[in-house]
Amino acid sequence: MALKQKMMENAYRFFGLEGKTAIVTGAGNGIGKAIAKMLASLGANVMACDIEGDSVAAVADEIVSEGYKVIHSKCDITKLDEIRATVKQTVAAYGTVDILVNCGATMGGGKKIAEVHPEEWNRLITTNLTGVYNFCWEVIPIMREKQSGKIINISSEAGIAGEDCDIHYSAAKAGVIGLTKSLARELGHEKINVNCVAPGFTETRMAHEWEFEPALKIFWKIGQPEDQAAAVVFLASEAANFFSGQVLSPNGGAYMF
Ligand SMILES: NC(=O)c1ccc[n+]([C@@H]2O[C@H](COP(=O)([O-])OP(=O)(O)OC[C@H]3O[C@@H](n4cnc5c(N)ncnc54)[C@H](O)[C@@H]3O)[C@@H](O)[C@H]2O)c1
Repeated sequence: MALKQKMMENAYRFFGLEGKTAIVTGAGNGIGKAIAKMLASLGANVMACDIEGDSVAAVADEIVSEGYKVIHSKCDITKLDEIRATVKQTVAAYGTVDILVNCGATMGGGKKIAEVHPEEWNRLITTNLTGVYNFCWEVIPIMREKQSGKIINISSEAGIAGEDCDIHYSAAKAGVIGLTKSLARELGHEKINVNCVAPGFTETRMAHEWEFEPALKIFWKIGQPEDQAAAVVFLASEAANFFSGQVLSPNGGAYMF
């Protein structure tokens, strides 16, 4: 019993997030929802936000019903005023922001280059790349002031290996990796760690809206949202204090880089 107690204490010391405040964007569905739930289940004070207000309210209800701490906000990551209001709500409720998970994103829709007209290019880059920048812009001053923080940006295997469609999606996700690495270099001496998770094919609404069946033939294994959430939790934890500027890619061995 004493040994078991010691093991629990070790797990708590390395991976427990009690008292840490985490903002998760895109928390209304799929991977973001799993991240919000897993962070809360490890003791974090979670702000779950999403452009889909009803979805994220339902996620918050689920988390509360399990006895964990969460608040929620309807927030479009392309709108700086909504981001500011969400960050303000978080600080008012919890006092600070320790962890930022940039997960919210939109899909490309399987478009070939001829279909990626300038408006479509701008729409997707504005959400999937500028949206990540926007939240960093608002949260980093808070982390700088206290000289600590963890930022985890969700990229994609498409940002590493490319795809045979959706150049804008791949370009945005590659951009998220570049943004992560440069921020990690710039903020490392201020004890702000910035890392990426680049999911492989994972069973969510986005994956089903894409070409699910053909994709299953390419990626021999499909992950669950919790497989991605586990990587985020690790990067948010004390156990990952020496990780910065890294890309973790839970993908079941479908690709390696
Ligand atoms: N599912 C996969 O196979 C896969 C693979 C690689 C990367 N990803 C990435 O994982 C992340 C989560 O995707 P998912 O598969 O869970 O998809 P999903 O569609 O289930 O969830 C995406 C969430 O982002 C939200 N969102 C979209 N636009 C937004 C905006 N402007 N502001 C705020 N929120 C917005 C959506 O409302 C939704 O709740 C995304 O960054 C995605 O690019 C997913």
